[in-house]
Amino acid sequence: MKNLIKPLEWRNGVLELLDQRKLPLEEVIVECHNLEDAFNSIKDMVVRGAPLIGYTGIFGMALYAKSENLSIEEISKAADYLNSARPTAVNLGYELGRCVEMAKECYEETGSFSSLEEKLVSFGFAQLEQIHKDNLEMAKIAKADLESKFGKRKYRIMTLCNTGYLACGPMGTALGVISHLASNDQIEHVYASETRPYMQGIRLTSYELKKQNIPHDVVVEGSFSYLMKNKLIDAIFIGADRIVKNGDTANKIGSSTLSIVAKHYGVPFYVVAPTSSFDFDADTGSSIPIEMRDQDEILFCKGMRIAPEGASALNPSFDVTDAAFIEGIICEKGLISPVSTNELLRVTGRS
Ligand code: MRU
Repeated sequence: MKNLIKPLEWRNGVLELLDQRKLPLEEVIVECHNLEDAFNSIKDMVVRGAPLIGYTGIFGMALYAKSENLSIEEISKAADYLNSARPTAVNLGYELGRCVEMAKECYEETGSFSSLEEKLVSFGFAQLEQIHKDNLEMAKIAKADLESKFGKRKYRIMTLCNTGYLACGPMGTALGVISHLASNDQIEHVYASETRPYMQGIRLTSYELKKQNIPHDVVVEGSFSYLMKNKLIDAIFIGADRIVKNGDTANKIGSSTLSIVAKHYGVPFYVVAPTSSFDFDADTGSSIPIEMRDQDEILFCKGMRIAPEGASALNPSFDVTDAAFIEGIICEKGLISPVSTNELLRVTGRS
């Protein structure tokens, strides 16, 4: 992809994040110099998207590893602190858990944490390289499945929120499927749901699609039924913040509604996410913590109040799509379809 600024960079010991709150109007870099900066950048959504906040967690721990006289207890506490920045996406806790393991190994091997920063930075970059390969693999699996269903042709694809390189590392997950199809000249049109209230669809997905010259329209969440009743969509691809053992999937608010409408009109609804988004400790979606965000994200638009004084809003940031409404879950290990605990465990190789 050309002309794309990386969402995350490590330069001279500083974590640089592309401020996604300012896109698409401004491309501004925020510098993180310590753990607190990394925590605030995740919490305030300078950086966002499940895989990317996981990687930010790794580099945030690398910043913390610069501190002197650390103990493993302090490192674990720092990881817990970073993990509390956003509760729904499991990737953050997953990557932070691996950082703590690395810290333990580092101490066992060298008797100190002096090489931990360097080890964590290499780990972070290795993860970004691996996710690029995984994203491409998932895109190929999705393309093959579409071709088996509809034949090899151009498709009309719908997506929600932002699952591109800004959220998921090189290529992206669900949006990576769209990029891959486009690079094979197999996209007729994309419908990107605007994704209220934070507008990841209109601000970020449209920004990425424009940079790649992929034909698309942004649509409002209220259009789901219109689009499918009028047969404008062949298939839907979304990402995931947490997929539990039975296949129930937490994703951006609106995903569950989209899946129900898709089921009603017989449009295949796919989830695309790496295995770092799977939570095998939870049996069903009812145990997934749902982040409640500030009501002002709904009541205000670009700093201007649009609701009457005294009005309040409820702002759950995610919902849980029932496994029954998902045609297939695509991870780097393969396609999980039908979506069931057995298939999920079989394809991922977990027990
Ligand atoms: O609140 P966000 O923007 O961090 O939400 C995460 C998401 O981008 C979506 O839920 C996405 O579909 C899963 S992460 C690629």
